[in-house]
Amino acid sequence: MSERSLSMKPMAPVTIIPTAKALLALIRNPLDALPPSIFSEPFVFSKTAGSIKIYLSDPALIHETLVTNADALGKGDQVRRALGPALGTGLLTADGAHWKWQRQSVASAFRPSSLKELQPAMLGAARNARDRLLEHTHQPVDIGHEMMKTTFDIIVETMMSGGHGIDVGRVERSITDYLSPSGWNFALSVVGAPQWTPYPGRRRAMKAVEFLRSSLTTVLEKRRRNNCGSEDLVSMLISAADPETGREMTDVEIIDNLMTFITAGHETTALGLAWTFDLLARHPECEARVIDEIEEVTQGNDVMAHHVPDLHYTKQVFSEAMRLYPPAPVITRTALKDFTMGDFLVPEGTVIFVPIYAVHHHASIWNEPETFDPDRFLPEAAKSRHRYAYMPFGAGPRVCIGNAFAMTEAVIILAVILQKLRFRTIDKTPQPIMRVTLRPRTSLQMQVVPA
Ligand code: HEM
Repeated sequence: MSERSLSMKPMAPVTIIPTAKALLALIRNPLDALPPSIFSEPFVFSKTAGSIKIYLSDPALIHETLVTNADALGKGDQVRRALGPALGTGLLTADGAHWKWQRQSVASAFRPSSLKELQPAMLGAARNARDRLLEHTHQPVDIGHEMMKTTFDIIVETMMSGGHGIDVGRVERSITDYLSPSGWNFALSVVGAPQWTPYPGRRRAMKAVEFLRSSLTTVLEKRRRNNCGSEDLVSMLISAADPETGREMTDVEIIDNLMTFITAGHETTALGLAWTFDLLARHPECEARVIDEIEEVTQGNDVMAHHVPDLHYTKQVFSEAMRLYPPAPVITRTALKDFTMGDFLVPEGTVIFVPIYAVHHHASIWNEPETFDPDRFLPEAAKSRHRYAYMPFGAGPRVCIGNAFAMTEAVIILAVILQKLRFRTIDKTPQPIMRVTLRPRTSLQMQVVPA
């Protein structure tokens, strides 16, 4: 996309989207509520229910907004409404100083040296998944469910020292129950309906939150009773102190963060992996290259932590799967004060969408955007693109804190599983549907085949 095409006129054309049409699309699948021209234009201003919204898919404008003007932005009503009941004001949903001290409090858990120590737990969970799957050879499995279980085991083991008996099946169902009616939340926030407005699935969603938060309260109470001396996320949150005031986190704030990490920290990677296995099964030549690479790097031995940096093609495959199916498909911000973007003044209160899904499928950024081609992530090809042409983990100070954690666990899971088995498709690939994260509309069933 040329630099010239970015310059915005103060009077940019506004696409009017009829409110009823927008609301219906939001409820059914918020991806369908994106203005179609955002897949080919650098930005779109749209008007729904009387208010202007900005959609950005130009990498330079995204940089100017999410990075340069990060201080002028907050998460806004849409995000808090959709996620607040579950995540309170934890790291993902907080703004300003409250966000900053929470991020600083947990940052050390995500440094490269800390991540290295977590790799044995990742390998252990991946091997358990492989062995579980090998018991189902020539049978269909729900690959999304299998990956959820695997990444859940990892997050609980690495961040909460095992989690002491949380019911993983019920957690998975509860997250689905909570996220299923999220389109209603987006729609109701567009028309400014009060938070208590009833909608289909609300009661079930609230029950799910109650279960999730009470499970984590039990974990915290147990930890306070018998401090096991583990240096993990729970202990970091318990001992965190605000550098300005010295204030420690309340139990509610600790639970907000445990909820944030347990949900943001496993569902996203699991979805990315499920889409990856589907894509590999449909592209046997890419699958063969991954398998050859694993064989060459491990020399037929078990996958170990020191193999991970050499599994370049495996990582390219996961990156390309997240281009086509970004697990977090849309980022939302609200302007907390006026700021300039290009030569346009964005007024306070404006809602800004960065539809990662549209950026990753954009006709001006990618050749044949719908084609699965992991070679797009060869170092030279990646270097020739704008830094924000590809952004599955977001951008700026709010970039995903678990970015490196997710890439490491994904490569480990792919390598450990593909060393011993493959998956074959049974049906057509389901359509992606946005439920905060990008899920398959129907479960992704695949047949397990031994290597
Ligand atoms: C493939 C996997 C993942 C994807 C695609 C992903 C994507 C994202 C994105 C796009 C954001 C930014 C949201 C925004 O700007 O509004 C984000 C934030 C966040 N992610 Fe991830 N994530 C993944 C894995 C993880 C993991 C493994 C963890 C934790 C172990 C994690 C924890 C978080 C947290 C706590 C935030 C909020 C950070 C902040 O606001 O300071 N994520 N993630």
